[in-house]
Amino acid sequence: MSHRAAPPPTNPAGGTPARQPGGDVQEAAVVVENLAVKRGKNLVLEDVSCSIPAGRITGLLGPSGSGKTTLIRAVVGVQRITAGQVRVLGRPAGDATLRHDVGYFTQAPSVYRDLSVVDNVRYFGAMHGKGRSDAAAALEAVGLAGFERRKAGDLSGGQFNRVSLACALVSKPQLLVLDEPTVGLDPVLRADLWHRFATMAAAGTSLVISSHVMEEASHCDTLLLLRDGHLLAQLTPGELRSQGRTDDLELAFLRLIQAAEAPTDTSGAETEGARP
Ligand SMILES: Nc1ncnc2c1ncn2[C@@H]1O[C@H](COP(=O)(O)OP(=O)(O)OP(=O)(O)O)[C@@H](O)[C@H]1O
Ligand SMILES: [Mg+2]
Repeated sequence: MSHRAAPPPTNPAGGTPARQPGGDVQEAAVVVENLAVKRGKNLVLEDVSCSIPAGRITGLLGPSGSGKTTLIRAVVGVQRITAGQVRVLGRPAGDATLRHDVGYFTQAPSVYRDLSVVDNVRYFGAMHGKGRSDAAAALEAVGLAGFERRKAGDLSGGQFNRVSLACALVSKPQLLVLDEPTVGLDPVLRADLWHRFATMAAAGTSLVISSHVMEEASHCDTLLLLRDGHLLAQLTPGELRSQGRTDDLELAFLRLIQAAEAPTDTSGAETEGARP
């Protein structure tokens, strides 16, 4: 049920070297160039270009509907794109050879409700040549040790989400893309997870983590700030604080948005609710 013999190509050199100990020189894990995406009739990402560093935590932040999930989908290769290009670990996004190298935690949990917690994680692990100890470690990482035998459908909402997170962690991918992984988690578990993400990044894993909780931005090495399908800025939390002239990251982001929108209002009057 749980094992399938397959070589586990986990963190070998895949064209993108991880962080050098003590050094700063590194290649990008993901390069996005002039990306445009239409969903339905709407242009939901427009001319987005960014570079996501390897071996670091990149936070993808923006209000609901700003395009975070769409950008993530483009990175993991499940989003039809209208223009531009996305390269992941030196290959085109969605390339078949990236299957074991990219882990994806979706906003909507993709867990089998009728399977036990541990069987869900073993099942996802087996698809990447991982075994029982990997599944146990992933469950430990999300605070679900002790719940192994429980049917996933009988868990609370937050616990159920964590099974999904364990399924994304179990393959130990080079690039881990997590769409709002901390939603529904209590503060203790949230802090524990961010610590775990930092440990993974230090070991060379590249992480992209979306959130609309600005306080989580402080855990990231670099931030992508999205607004209405546009990339407003790519900067560090420190740069965001200094550009926003406050230690409050949420207020700093608001000030950046207001600054970006201000030039459209030539009278200098109230800009609230205005669109460029
Ligand atoms: N299948 C779809 N068809 C048409 N429009 C869509 C579709 N999915 C998303 N959109 C639109 O694309 C825009 C970006 O959506 P997206 O899900 O990327 O936002 P998000 O930043 O992840 O939001 P949230 O924080 O609520 O998850 C939104 O305006 C949304 O309504
Ligand atoms: Mg989303």
